Amino acid sequence: MRYNDMTENELDEVVNKYIEYYNNCEDGCWTYEKAYKRIHQVMTTEDSMCLVQYDDEGSMTGFVMGYFKQYDDILGYFLEEIVVFSGYQGKGYGSLLMTKLEEKVKEMGANHLEFLSVNDEHHSHFYGKFGYYAADNFRIMGKHWEM
Ligand SMILES: CC(C)(COP(=O)(O)OP(=O)(O)OC[C@H]1O[C@@H](n2cnc3c(N)ncnc32)[C@H](O)[C@@H]1OP(=O)(O)O)[C@@H](O)C(=O)NCCC(=O)NCCS
Repeated sequence: MRYNDMTENELDEVVNKYIEYYNNCEDGCWTYEKAYKRIHQVMTTEDSMCLVQYDDEGSMTGFVMGYFKQYDDILGYFLEEIVVFSGYQGKGYGSLLMTKLEEKVKEMGANHLEFLSVNDEHHSHFYGKFGYYAADNFRIMGKHWEM
């Protein structure tokens, strides 16, 4: 596998594969403009780190994106997205991506990694393998209204 920091040149392919996965496999309704905005937004956030994964044939297989967050006592990394593209899931690529991400996050001096996870058995199993657990001292709060 090969990894590199996401560049502007890769954005078009990342966006198209992101849309292909979410719209075909998860009932998403992404347009190119919305997906581009989503990914570009995180990529250009201050102290972002976004990695793209390629297999040995040179095919783009997935990516992670997020950014470092400064707290008073620790430097953390907030993972915004991890996606293994259609046709590549269930082959261990997601685990390799998480391993690479943790390695890079540690290299950059952070000692905390956090994210919001889909609350189902698959994701609990996947993240649990790496020792991630649900925090019980915080909860997500939100409000939604029709426009
Ligand atoms: C989550 C994701 C990144 C995992 O990537 P992946 O390449 O499929 O992961 P891996 O092949 O390394 O590992 C998958 C593990 O989940 C297990 N798994 C797969 N489907 C499962 C299910 N329905 N229930 C329970 N476990 C499941 C596999 O058995 C494997 O576990 P194992 O290593 O113990 O055998 C990938 O599924 C993905 O991109 N999903 C869509 C985007 C997404 O949900 N992102 C995360 C949002 S929080």
